[in-house]
Amino acid sequence: MSNNGKMRIALLGLGTVGYGVYDFIRRRGDMEIACAMSLVVPDGVTCPIVKNIEDIYADETIDTVVEVIGGLHPAYEWVSGALKAGKHVITANKLLIAKHYAELVGLAKEKSVALRCTAAAGGGIPWLTSLKRCADQEPVIRISGIMNGTTNFILDTMHRTGGSFSSALEEAQRLGYAEANPADDLNGADIRRKLVISANIGYGCVLDENEVAVEGIEHITDADIAVFRRLGRVCKLIAASRKLDGGIAAYIEPALMLPSMPESAIPENYNLISLTGKHIGKQSFYGQGAGRYPTAYNVVQDCVDVRSGIRGFYTEQLEPAHVDNSTIIRAYYVRTDGVDKWLQSKVDKILDCGIITKPVSVPEIHRWAKERRKTDPDCFIASLR
Ligand code: HSE
Repeated sequence: MSNNGKMRIALLGLGTVGYGVYDFIRRRGDMEIACAMSLVVPDGVTCPIVKNIEDIYADETIDTVVEVIGGLHPAYEWVSGALKAGKHVITANKLLIAKHYAELVGLAKEKSVALRCTAAAGGGIPWLTSLKRCADQEPVIRISGIMNGTTNFILDTMHRTGGSFSSALEEAQRLGYAEANPADDLNGADIRRKLVISANIGYGCVLDENEVAVEGIEHITDADIAVFRRLGRVCKLIAASRKLDGGIAAYIEPALMLPSMPESAIPENYNLISLTGKHIGKQSFYGQGAGRYPTAYNVVQDCVDVRSGIRGFYTEQLEPAHVDNSTIIRAYYVRTDGVDKWLQSKVDKILDCGIITKPVSVPEIHRWAKERRKTDPDCFIASLR
């Protein structure tokens, strides 16, 4: 911190979120952007631009590094380097935190600095901080919900307008909701990372993201949406998890919700994330899950928390846990170009374009869908809630 008590921040990245952080902080009196590192510098940015990360590590007047470049490299090296140099780190990088969770949490603890990533799950919703507060007092037994703004925007637009997947995706990209590689939104990789980070904090565990079953919405069509409308259902991409004796159930899949379910009403880029505590029941958190200012808001909130003295990560519990989805059993909508032996044995109802299965387990149907895509790359599945 500088002599006048201001938090002095090195800002890594001046993209969609980075510029939002810059814009918020330049209006504050309690913190300042000491310098930024960015390949592209938007008009109106007046702080010094640094070319070498080592200059930031060596600058003792800089107490905090905000990383909003995204991606794994060089974010991993720069965040690790900043923690090792004794700087607090605030990041919105889901990929980085989900992948290097235990190592980075350990490093922050060893150096007695803060590592915060509230913007990494839920965009502008104070979800991770609320989850941490709950987990400090109460066993969290379930975490679930809509945790990706881009896919919610696409599904909501397709349901409302009957329009195509590609035009809804283009609009989500134009509005700054999508990842640099939107495939991560569409195939569920982004929401899976958010579920892993949430589960780690809520259940006090360390999950390997590769164990979390994932089905995305990249194969959904406007014809599927028309079928769901006739069934009186709303399709949402859902992250679901629950604590089991000796493990965690955790999976991502499109789900066909009844109109009475709160998730059905979530519009545009909004998220709805819920936790269930053993004694307190369900609490839900709603707000914009993506976009410049909502995400930048949570980054700046983390700066405020660190300035007020918060240190370390949200939890220091790092118990490795395994995923077991074998007890989760539901009926599914399946659309594929033929009926194989397995599907034949599971048919409950035949629809115009697709079938409804008898109840099957998450591992069974996810495994089948992946195998099926070797011959029908456009096969799509969604569970019935
Ligand atoms: N691409 C992400 C989303 C950004 O759409 O939710 C916010 O994490």
